[in-house]
Amino acid sequence: MMTILVQLAIAFSLSLLSDSKDIYKPIEAVMLQPQSYAFVRRVTTTSKEKAFQILENKCNVCHNKRNRRRVFTLDNMNPWVDDVYKQVFIKKRMPKGKKIKLTSQEYQDLLTWISATQNNQNGNQL
Ligand code: HEC
Repeated sequence: MMTILVQLAIAFSLSLLSDSKDIYKPIEAVMLQPQSYAFVRRVTTTSKEKAFQILENKCNVCHNKRNRRRVFTLDNMNPWVDDVYKQVFIKKRMPKGKKIKLTSQEYQDLLTWISATQNNQNGNQL
């Protein structure tokens, strides 16, 4: 029992050291063999990480060639959140063309990041 508590404490401290400013879901502890063995993992990716994967797969693929001034990175994506919202959800100009489409899951994941980031900019820092 003691070992498990110690491991949880260590995992929790590590999660505090983590550098992302995004929202973390609580750490989930998984006990494989109670008493003797436990491991802790970060189960969820953050909304920002998910959004970045989408920007990378569905936007950067094209921007890399056709709009080099708008290649998304983890550093610039938050400041560009309003532009992304406008182009994808309001004007529906992006993703440009017919070949690349977003799935409804991807729209949802982008929206989750957008609302978290916009609230964050209007309110307290996270
Ligand atoms: C097939 C190519 C292509 C894809 C895919 C694509 N873009 Fe673009 N995007 C462009 C081009 C070219 C421009 C510059 C010309 C324009 O605005 O139409 C642009 C411009 C933009 C701009 C700036 C527009 C402005 O006027 O301020 C934003 C923001 C943007 N894209 C976001 C995205 C996002 C987010 C995605 C993915 C969900 C995406 N784009 C996918 C080609 C693409």
